[in-house]
This record gives sequence, C-alpha cells and structure tokens, in this order.
Amino acid sequence: MRNIGVVNQKGGVGKTTTAVNLAVYMALLGRKVLLVDLDPQANATSGLGVEPAETGAAAVLLDGAAPRDELVRIENYGLDLLPAGEGLVAAAARLLEDPFRLRARLADLGNEYDFVLYDSPPSLGPLTLNVLAAAEGLVVPLQAEYYALEGIARLSETVARVRETLNPALRILGIVLTMFDGRTLLSQQVEQNAREHFGDKVFWTVIPRNVRLSEAPSYGQPIARHAPTSAGAQAYSRLAAEVIRRAEKT
Ligand SMILES: Nc1ncnc2c1ncn2[C@@H]1O[C@H](COP(=O)(O)OP(=O)(O)O)[C@@H](O)[C@H]1O
Ligand SMILES: [Mg+2]
Repeated sequence: MRNIGVVNQKGGVGKTTTAVNLAVYMALLGRKVLLVDLDPQANATSGLGVEPAETGAAAVLLDGAAPRDELVRIENYGLDLLPAGEGLVAAAARLLEDPFRLRARLADLGNEYDFVLYDSPPSLGPLTLNVLAAAEGLVVPLQAEYYALEGIARLSETVARVRETLNPALRILGIVLTMFDGRTLLSQQVEQNAREHFGDKVFWTVIPRNVRLSEAPSYGQPIARHAPTSAGAQAYSRLAAEVIRRAEKT
C-alpha cells in the first residue's frame, strides 16, 4: 500500500505530530515519501519550517495547478511536502461535490513515491473524506484519555461506510497510542482497552508524552532534527519501521 492517511476526527490527538515525524523517519529509512498537508491550519507545513501557502495543496485541488510545481523539497530527509494554507477552506467547498478529486489530482505524482502520507483536519468533512477516498490505509492516533475509544468506534463506522460506497480498498492500517503517560492509570487502562478491542491493529510502539515533541514545531523542525535522541524521536523512529513493515506487506 502506498497511500496512508493520518486520520482522527478529534483535534489535538497527535495527527500532525504523527504525520510529520512518520514521514521524516520513513524517508530516513530510505523510502521516497510525499507528505500532503490537507489541514487549513497548516501545522504540518509550518512544523517542517515551511511558510503556509495560499497555493500548494489548495491550488492543486481548486485551480488545476500541476502538483509537481507546488512541491517543497525538505532538505536532508529526501522528503517532499505539498503544503497547506488558508486556501484549503475554499477547496473544501469544492470537494464536497467530488470526493475523488484529491485521489485523481495526485494519482500520477503519487506513483513516483514509495509512500504518500496525508495529514487531515480534525473533522469528518470534505477534506477528510477525500483522504478516505484516496488512501488504502489509515494510521489512527489515539490519545490516551476517556472517550478516545468511542471516537475510534465512530471512525470505524465511517471507514466501513466509505468502503461500501467510495473506496473498497480502505482499511485501518493501525492505531497508535499517543501522548502516553505510563505512570497514570488512565493511560494504562486506555492501552489495555484498545488492545482488547482492536487486537494487533494497535501498533506495538506507543508514543510517550514528551516535551521535545511538543516544542519541535515552534522551531520548524521534525523531532529527528530537534532532539534526535529524545524518547519521542526513538518512538517515532520505531513507529516508522512498524508502519513500513505493515504497509509493504499489502
Ligand atoms: N507525544 C506528545 N508529547 C507531547 N506533546 C505532544 C505529543 N504529540 C503531540 N503533542 C502536542 O499536542 C498538541 C496536539 O498535537 P497535534 O499533533 O497537533 O494534534 P492534531 O493534529 O491531532 O490536532 C500539539 O501542541 C503537539 O505539539
Ligand atoms: Mg493537526
């Protein structure tokens, strides 16, 4: 599988942190990776030190701009970024009528990469629906907190519906526990419940709550640059290896 969406309709659960750092470590593990930022807030874009663009992904979706012309090369990692910006708000309205627009617009370019990762906004709106239509697999960040599992249940229903209507190939590649604090009972319980409910869909790697991960975006750097030996860096490096292993099997 090539196209992987990082999706959860809840905000603040670690989607962008996961998309950025997975993309960087998958590239560092020798894969050719394209990261597509589809959140108008453009956190993945600025987190990689790139100025959010009025053009970028929005121009590709709205105006028929050539995707290749909108790419930003992230030096040192062998990673390409299709940046986001406010223009995606207008693009979302257009996407409402066409859930396959993203898939169609990126089909040719995507073929040049081993993996295309999509960061998505915190909703099940048209931008996310386009990601669900374009992806074969989803990485779902699960923040260790109450009600987190209910959110995943709702997302699973959406995935089932999308599979019947838009995209029979779609499946959840894996669920990753984020902002995990092993000292709290809550984190332990959420992990236990997740593994009971979702079995080996849950990645072995758990992302710890780590201050280095939260401060890295303010430097416009991925964790591999900001704090390469931190617990957060080690976790995302391991997660990237797990994602590659699963994704290359299918
Ligand atoms: N493992 C972590 N440890 C500490 N802070 C984190 C971690 N993962 C994410 N954060 C912080 O939590 C906030 C929300 O994360 P983010 O990745 O932006 O979530 P989302 O994209 O789902 O809204 C951000 O400020 C981010 O820096
Ligand atoms: Mg985000």
